Order: sequence, then C-alpha cells, then structure tokens
Amino acid sequence: MIDEAAIWGALPVPGLVLDAEDRIASANPAAENFFNASERALLGAPVWDRLMVDAPMEESFRRARENGTPLFVNDVDVGTGDRPPMQCNLQIAPLGGPAGAMILVISPRELAGRLTKSHSVKSAAKSAIGMAEMLAHEIKNPLAGITGAAQLLSMNLSKDDLELTDLIVAETRRILKLLEQVEQFGNTRPPTMQPVNVHDVLDRARRSALLGFGAHMKIVEDYDPSLPLAQGDPDQLLQVILNLLKNASEASDPAGGTVRLHTYYEHSFRLRRADGDGQSLPLQIEVIDDGPGLPADLEGDIFDPFVSGRENGTGLGLALVSKIVSDHGGWISVSSAPGRTVFRISLPRAPREPKETR
Ligand SMILES: Nc1ncnc2c1ncn2[C@@H]1O[C@H](COP(=O)(O)OP(=O)(O)OP(=O)(O)O)[C@@H](O)[C@H]1O
Ligand SMILES: [Mg+2]
Repeated sequence: MIDEAAIWGALPVPGLVLDAEDRIASANPAAENFFNASERALLGAPVWDRLMVDAPMEESFRRARENGTPLFVNDVDVGTGDRPPMQCNLQIAPLGGPAGAMILVISPRELAGRLTKSHSVKSAAKSAIGMAEMLAHEIKNPLAGITGAAQLLSMNLSKDDLELTDLIVAETRRILKLLEQVEQFGNTRPPTMQPVNVHDVLDRARRSALLGFGAHMKIVEDYDPSLPLAQGDPDQLLQVILNLLKNASEASDPAGGTVRLHTYYEHSFRLRRADGDGQSLPLQIEVIDDGPGLPADLEGDIFDPFVSGRENGTGLGLALVSKIVSDHGGWISVSSAPGRTVFRISLPRAPREPKETR
C-alpha cells in the first residue's frame, strides 16, 4: 500500500486542498515553497486572499464545485502577494470525501509548457518559412525552364528515351507542387475576422473530408448546440479543420478510424500574452482521433514547418494550422496517446453587439 500522505508530499507541483468555504485545508511541500510559507501559516486562510488570480473565475469555480466537475484555467497570472505574478495553469477538481472540498493544483508555465506541449508559431519557425519561401520563388523559374526543355527534347526521341524525359517532367512537376505549397504557406493573408458559426465550418470540413481523403473514416459530431459565434475567418478555419482531419485520416488504419468533432464552451479559458494583454478564448473545438498517436520522436515539434512523420509529408500542415490559429489570437494544444489524439483549438467569441461601422 502506498501512503497517500507520501503521494501528496511527493507531488512536484504546488497543490492545495480547499474546504467548502474556500479556505486552505491542506498544502503540500511544493505549495509551501510556492507561497513561501509553512503549511501551518496557510491553514484556514481564505485561498483567494493568498492567491491572486488575474482572471474572473468565481463563476466557473462555483459551477465546478456544484457539478462536481474538474476545471482547467490556462495561462493566468498567479501572484502570492510577495513576489511578481507568474504565468500558471490551474487545475481544480472536487475531492471525494468532505462535502464541497476541492483540490487545486498550480502548474507554473515553464513546467506546463513542457507537460502539455502547447504551442504558437515561434519566430525561428517564421524565419525558416521565410527562407523556404525565398528559395521556392528562386527555384520555380529555372524549374519551369527545365520542364519546357525536356518537353521540347521529347519531340524527337525514341520511345525508350521518352521515358527519361517523362521522368524529368513528372519529377519537376512534383517539386513545383511542393514549392507552391511552401509559397502558399507564406502567402496566407491576415484573417478577415467576422462572426462565424463554428459548427458550419466543422460541417463543411466533415463533408469534404468524407468525400475525399477521409472516405474511409467515420466522423462523429459532438456539438454543444448553445455554442455562441466565434470571431474568425471562416475559410481559414476551414483550412485548419481540414488539415487536422487529413492528418487523422492519414494516421488511421486504412480500414477506417473514427474522428470526433467536439465543441464546448469554457467560460474561464484565457490566453495571456507576453505584453500582458489577456484574451478570453472560451470556444473550444477538439478534433479527437482513435489512431496510433503522434510518433514519440516528433511530439514536441509537430507544429514546426517541415517536421513530418510520413513518407510523402511536407510537414507544413500543422505549421499552417498553428499560424492561422495564432493569427486569430487563438490557442492550439495537443495531447496524444495511442488510441486517442486530441487537437484542441480555443477561439475568441464574436462581440455580442454588432460593432459600429466606421
Ligand atoms: N492525428 C494524428 N495522429 C498521428 N500522428 C499525427 C497526427 N497529426 C499529425 N501527426 C504527425 O505529425 C506530423 C506532422 O503533421 P503535418 O500535418 O504538419 O505534416 P504532414 O501531414 O506530414 O505533411 P502535410 O500536412 O504538409 O502534407 C505528421 O507527419 C504525423 O507524423
Ligand atoms: Mg498534414
């Protein structure tokens, strides 16, 4: 038998148990460190006096307690009063046992970043793309020349030699196509933001996937019908969902697999930017597949351009997804295990009143 107190003590992230009145009922050693106070000093203190969270969460916290459901709040600034606030993810869950008791785990972001592989386009990735774009542009012209020359040559050739010129033409076409993809990647215009019904976008993506690359897949809809409109560019969001569905279809067993399109509203999800500007991203879209999961060696890098685990992959699909989501001010994260890979996109809500026209 493992001693439960030992588990609590060994937990490497700050953890608190709160009683029904939101007072601290227990603090593990990592929490003592975090607060720079002994457990004895913390006991009985109203938690929101000790922990300053820069996000409105009373409402969702209350709901989590009432419904007995867990609550995740990502990227909030958490202060303890005696040092500068730190970006953290908070995980809150009802503790079986005493009525109303909750457990609260605080994961400082350096750690959270490593654990959840959340991602946005990094500047290194951006310059890699810029470089590739320039190269693509430079290579395209001579390539067109090569194709043309091969076609001219082929007019006077014997049948055997024709095979060779055909090969040149076919291979240069393939390279051209790849280059076009790279260029297209660089060309994505900034999103034209407007109120979007996420479910319309998902339906379009679903139908087009089922007609094409995803014909062998089952795509299940699991929508929250009360989801409000998102603020975004419908065409670009369609591209995002298509890329995710394509990856799921490619990863799945050729005999078929299932993708679940899940939407829900998470009132308290906020993104905090480096400049301190916080944005609420309450609309959640999850694309969940039951395939083999991400290749372990790629896991941390899949959003980088040219990272691919597939024979013919260019590795641009997820880089584009990540770019579009980040242009939307949104957030994407992934968690993957064999049998369950979840890509989760968090988007801003459309403004409630129509904006005045200028
Ligand atoms: N749902 C998934 N299940 C398993 N592996 C995945 C999944 N989605 C992505 N991957 C892995 O991540 C890699 C990168 O994906 P990405 O879409 O960026 O590139 P790609 O699919 O290889 O090429 P492209 O999309 O440009 O044709 C894939 O090659 C694959 O190995
Ligand atoms: Mg792909």
